[in-house]
Amino acid sequence: MTLIDPTIDIHLTPDYASRALRADARAGLTAEPKWLAPKWFYDARGSELFEQITRLPEYYPTRAEREILDARAGEIAALTGAHTLVELGSGSSEKTRLLLQALHDHGTLSTFVPLDVSEVALRDAARAINADFPALTVHGVVGDFTAHLDRLPGEAPRVVAFLGGTIGNLLPAERAEFYTSVRAALEPGEWLLLGTDLVKDPDVLVRAYDDAAGVTAEFNRNVLRVLNRQLGADFEVEAFSHRAIWDPENEWIEMHLRADRAMSVLIPEIGLEVEFAEGEELSTEVSAKFRREGVEAELTKGGFAAGAWWTDSEDRFALSLWQAL
Ligand code: AVJ
Repeated sequence: MTLIDPTIDIHLTPDYASRALRADARAGLTAEPKWLAPKWFYDARGSELFEQITRLPEYYPTRAEREILDARAGEIAALTGAHTLVELGSGSSEKTRLLLQALHDHGTLSTFVPLDVSEVALRDAARAINADFPALTVHGVVGDFTAHLDRLPGEAPRVVAFLGGTIGNLLPAERAEFYTSVRAALEPGEWLLLGTDLVKDPDVLVRAYDDAAGVTAEFNRNVLRVLNRQLGADFEVEAFSHRAIWDPENEWIEMHLRADRAMSVLIPEIGLEVEFAEGEELSTEVSAKFRREGVEAELTKGGFAAGAWWTDSEDRFALSLWQAL
């Protein structure tokens, strides 16, 4: 049997990522305090390190979300009757397959729309899914979920899945903008399926972001390797220490890289020289943790009605379903 290559719509120019990285590096490394956006963790090595994180004993979100999906995928299919599953980010994971299988078994599924910034990742994911679900139309979109949600393909009703707690990596204003753009991309009656990590004991949270084996520390430092390779920077990666801090006001984990001594870093590709004082911290990721009331308030403001709220057996993580009004 021959498989038809999946359709892929490309909404990004080939140099989109490199331009965005330059702009972000310049903005973040000239700011006070310094910051880098978490999306730059995920080159090939960073994605591999993230996979390792999901298997760490301390990092519960992946397992907790999978437990919920295992228990609820059938209900999600029955409640939504979705003809199309849109997945923002990833697209090849076990969790995606659980949803596709449930929608397929329910008899309504016709199209899968993975959306990712990486064309290579997207093509691999689309092919792998096509091989397992040969009757499914796979229509990938190369795009940035913060900018290219308009013109989502697929027959209604669609479910847009945003899993893994990635919503927590957006700042509150960015989240509001994201919900508004998802709502604008949907017709009334269509759905958003959202994975959110929940507020819990700060010790449990800090351990999840500062594991004993040091994998998260390597993942965090990897962003400096990305800048070294892509922008010709000369960060001395080992001279930065990993820090994971619980911010009780904002109810988020913040990952930092702390300069162990004073350093001057050259970034030739953007013509920048950056000074670090000893002990200076560079913020690399915010991972917000949520409460049900907060999620409900934000989604209601964004134009959605509550469909369902499910948690894992230990109330660590929530999967919630929202219907566009
Ligand atoms: C799964 C992408 C949301 O914030 O938990 C894991 C990534 N960062 N350890 C998260 C991450 C540090 C992450 N996301």
